[in-house]
Amino acid sequence: MDPNIQTPVDRKVIEQKIQENGLEQIGQASIREIVKLVNEIEKATGERYIRMEMGVPGLKPPAEAIEGEIEALRAGVASKYPMIEGIEELKQEISRFVKNFINIQVDPKGCLPTVGSMQGAFASFLVSCRRDPGKDTTLFIDPGFPVQKQQHKVLGMKYETFDVYNYRGDRLGEKLESYLKKGNISTLLYSNPNNPSWICFTEKELQIIGELANKYDVVVMEDLAYFGMDFRQDISRPGEPPYQPTVANYTDNCILLISSSKSFSMAGERVGMMVIADKLFNSRFPKLAEYYPGDGFGYSMVYGALYTLSAGTNHSAQYGLLKILKAVNEGTRNFVEDVREYGERAKIMKELLLKHGFTLVYDRDENQPLADGFYFTFAFPGMDGKELLEKLIYYGISAITLDITGSERTEGLRACVSQVGKDQMEQMDRRLEQFARDHLNSV
Ligand SMILES: Cc1ncc(COP(=O)(O)O)c(C=O)c1O
Repeated sequence: MDPNIQTPVDRKVIEQKIQENGLEQIGQASIREIVKLVNEIEKATGERYIRMEMGVPGLKPPAEAIEGEIEALRAGVASKYPMIEGIEELKQEISRFVKNFINIQVDPKGCLPTVGSMQGAFASFLVSCRRDPGKDTTLFIDPGFPVQKQQHKVLGMKYETFDVYNYRGDRLGEKLESYLKKGNISTLLYSNPNNPSWICFTEKELQIIGELANKYDVVVMEDLAYFGMDFRQDISRPGEPPYQPTVANYTDNCILLISSSKSFSMAGERVGMMVIADKLFNSRFPKLAEYYPGDGFGYSMVYGALYTLSAGTNHSAQYGLLKILKAVNEGTRNFVEDVREYGERAKIMKELLLKHGFTLVYDRDENQPLADGFYFTFAFPGMDGKELLEKLIYYGISAITLDITGSERTEGLRACVSQVGKDQMEQMDRRLEQFARDHLNSV
């Protein structure tokens, strides 16, 4: 940073904290390292940051979820091991939920609670990536959630990846096929809406993915961590279109991971849903019997993967999820309305950035502008993402670089809107204005 510039946050304190934390290369820091650094700077300076680095829900959990858990705890579930496949009522309710909001029919036996989607992904890799000896590699459609690649590293599993930025629409098919035709891909994973870019696949793209999964016998893991949060269409009315778009309309070879963390603001409860399409659940793969008590896909998932990971999901959290699902299925709670606030914040924040000369990085779904939601990506002319992040820290603004998400757009940062209140927008405006004034002429 140019020492002649008077930045909104005390430069000396920032420099000292960066040094103490060994983060001279802030641009390479992980999300949690940035969280720690900014916590310390805020504490030492008393300055509140525009905190855009971490995807924590910034809203209260719904009353039904809390009540459901408290009632279950009072009824004594804490002393009892839950069934690994989940409590029967919850399985029924998940099946009803996917029918109501995705318009797909899934047998309750393939509807499994997991310890967050994080565990759902881990368990899915354990089974899906081991079902065929010739297929030992996962394909990530990036950018993506870095922890899923870390899960691969922990498991010693192989993966390949490509940034989808230049491969939207029809081009996606050709690109995907160039990987799938090699024959080594067992599983294909993407999030939709996407963390970090907030792109959402179009119906045409989902069809391309589903049809190729059928052609090459690849399991699609569709990570719906931001279920219903493409606010361009309102999927909130149970049993009525429009529905959450899904690859499940085009293939039976799929697992849907539905997190409750963001859509129901229940991140702390670590409870999510894994929904396995009936045909895949009932499929048999001889190779699985080498690892698990049988060769059935669904059986291996429950009595192999989920059993050995945590022997099921927290009993009271399952009742919390059950109660909120009942409410949304019956239409007494509109979960999309509850989280629409994120879209409103994103809209304002993007406008502020554009006003001060920043640009959006991922900005279109084919020919449609991206939705306003939980994340967006941005850049500043003439700077790469690392430099931009390093500089913004001095202006009381934090984010993460796109580098760590498998994106090739090295100029970009990811912003998460969840922790930035509407009461901070004016301050964000002022800080960005000063940043632009201090840097636009120097680039
Ligand atoms: C794309 C994606 N998948 C999965 C998760 C993890 O979800 P959960 O909190 O349900 O474990 C997240 C959380 O940020 C995410 O962004």
